[in-house]
Order: sequence, then C-alpha cells, then structure tokens
Amino acid sequence: MTTSLSPLDFAADVLSTHLPLIQAPMAGVQAAGLAIAVSEAGGLGSLPAALLPLDALQRELEALRAGTHRPFNVNFFAHVSPLPDPAREARWRERLAPYFSEFGVDASSIVAGVGRQPFSHAVADVVEAFKPPVISFHFGLPAPDLLARVKGWGSRVISSATTVEEAVWLEAHGVDAVIAQGWEAGGHRGHFLSTDLTRQAGTLALLPQIVNAVSVPVIATGGIVTAAGIQAALALGASAVQVGTAFMLCEEALTSAPHRQVLREPQGHHTAVTNLMTGRPARGIVNRLMREVGPINELAPAFPLAGNALAPLRAKAEAQGSGDFSPLWAGQNFTGLKEVGAAALVAELAQAF
Ligand SMILES: Cc1cc2nc3c(=O)[nH]c(=O)nc-3n(C[C@H](O)[C@H](O)[C@H](O)COP(=O)(O)O)c2cc1C
Repeated sequence: MTTSLSPLDFAADVLSTHLPLIQAPMAGVQAAGLAIAVSEAGGLGSLPAALLPLDALQRELEALRAGTHRPFNVNFFAHVSPLPDPAREARWRERLAPYFSEFGVDASSIVAGVGRQPFSHAVADVVEAFKPPVISFHFGLPAPDLLARVKGWGSRVISSATTVEEAVWLEAHGVDAVIAQGWEAGGHRGHFLSTDLTRQAGTLALLPQIVNAVSVPVIATGGIVTAAGIQAALALGASAVQVGTAFMLCEEALTSAPHRQVLREPQGHHTAVTNLMTGRPARGIVNRLMREVGPINELAPAFPLAGNALAPLRAKAEAQGSGDFSPLWAGQNFTGLKEVGAAALVAELAQAF
C-alpha cells in the first residue's frame, strides 16, 4: 500500500513545489518556455530532453535556470538502442514506396537520423551542473551506475509504469515515486517489461492497483485534463498528477500548426496507439499514414529507427500544412484543452487541491 503522505506534503517533500501537479514532458511540442511558465505558477514544469543533442540540452537547461528559480523536472528515455536491421528497413521502405513516389522522395537519399539517444554518462555530464530537483525516465530506468550518479547529486527520480509489475520493478530499483501511465495517455507508452499491449489498463483501473502494490507515492497520468479529473485521481490514492495533452494548446507550447489544427477540431479527436512513427507504440491523432498503413504494422523498424524513412515525407507534408505523416501525439481526453497561458491553466487545475 502506497505511502500515506498527503498530496501537498508529497509536493513539498519530493517535488519541492507548491502543487502536486507535474506538466508532462512532451518531446516535440515544447521546450523550456512551457516548463518555466508551469514552475513559476507553482507546478512542476518539465523539459523533455530525449530528442535534444548535447549542445541543445545545455542551452535549454541554461534557459530554464535563467527563467525560474523554482524546481523543474528533466525527462529522458531509458531504452536500449537497437541494432540496425537492413532487411527490415528495406521492407519498411518498400511499404512506403508509393508515398515516396507521390511526394517525389528519392529513397536512396534517406540518411539514418540521430534519433533518440538513451540517457548516458555523456548526457549526465551536461545535466550534473544543473542538478535538476526531479529527473523522470520513460521506458524503465538507466543502468544502476547511471541511476546512482543521478541520485548522488540529489535529484529525485520518477519513472513511468504501465502495469502493476512495472511499478513493483521500479520501486525495487529505487525510484522516489512511480508514474502510473494509463492507456488514455498521449505519446509513447512507457512499457519496458512486456510488449503485450493487452496488459495495459486505463488510468481508473491501473492507478488503484499500483497504489495497492507499492509503498512509494504514485503519480497518476493519462486522460487527466481538468480539476475534476485530478480529484478523481486523488480519490483513488494518487499523491500527484502529471498532465500532458491539456497543455498542448497553451501559448508557451511549441505545438506545430497542423498539430494545433487537429487538436482544435472535434473531428480530430480520434486517437489510436501506433508504432509507425518511431517503432514503439504511442498514442496520437489518427492521420493518413495511420489509416492506410497501421495503426500497428510489424514492418516498422525497432524504436527509434522507424522515423528515419518517414522524415522526408513528414517534411514535405508539413510544408503543405498537413500532419498526414507526422506524429500527432495526444491523449484520449480533449475536454480541458485551452488556448491560454500555462499559468491560467495551472490556476484552474489547482482548484482540485
Ligand atoms: C505530445 C506528447 C509528447 C510526449 N512526450 C513525452 C516525452 O518526451 N517523455 C515522456 O516521458 N512522456 C511523454 N509523453 C507522455 C506524457 O508523459 C504523459 O504520459 C501523457 O501526456 C499523459 O496523458 P495525457 O496526455 O492524457 O495527459 C508525451 C505526451 C504527449 C501528448
């Protein structure tokens, strides 16, 4: 059974914030600006760092440091990089060939991208100088020596669990809190013990089971977009919530024009979990590629390699204002989306506490 620490005590003791409210790290749609606004408003702003080369990471951390004296979270992926598989890559490009012809893409010009690098000592060398109060991981945890290094400089460590087994594993490996990621959540599923998606439950079912199974505090995420949703999560034993999709239309978010467009339209509110964009299942708004090739297709190369062959198609479509080949990550609950400054949204959500 999880700790009896109240949400406000959890915020003060573990997150060092006024509010037990974390702005979910959202790679591709935000940088330091959104995190600063949320931290200044009393929540925990998050910087998604999984896509950032080291020099960009340094710049974003400097911007965060300059923009707020309040605590913040920096988020990394803890996946194992796959070995290249030329045969699978060739089959994937064959499947995409009709699109390459349609958009005039020369497939032989596609270069292997940098992709998403897992957390490493080189990354830790940059982060250490900033000693973020909280570091969150997706897809498990880094190797024990790296985790010990992060904890050694004083960061609190949290990580996503999509099943009870993953929550128990994370507690046994030393996290300060578990993020229970329900099936409704936008973006990548954080699973790391089993790839069987039928094992993954919605927030309402997952959260109380994780609360019963671990003694560390539990942060609820997935489909939580309003103060009423937060209250429901707290009633089920959450010590805090992590809210993503609700922040995507905020003025400080860097959500692209085609992505904003589909988020605004009720007909865009159809999401599915797809592996096409990166090779790992992630929830996004259904677009042309997902309709015609997926949403799940076994030809997609392993994470993060699937995105390489899509990059030129994505660029050409986006230049025409279309998100047909882009990852349009979003959760299932669109109720709370508002085109306001993040501080106004935090103030509205804070009514839950
Ligand atoms: C656009 C977008 C990008 C995301 N990127 C990340 C990421 O970089 N790292 C991460 O740990 N989670 C990421 N997530 C997942 C969130 O941490 C969280 O699980 C999710 O937003 C919660 O569900 P909600 O969107 O319904 O609030 C992303 C989610 C979205 C919507």
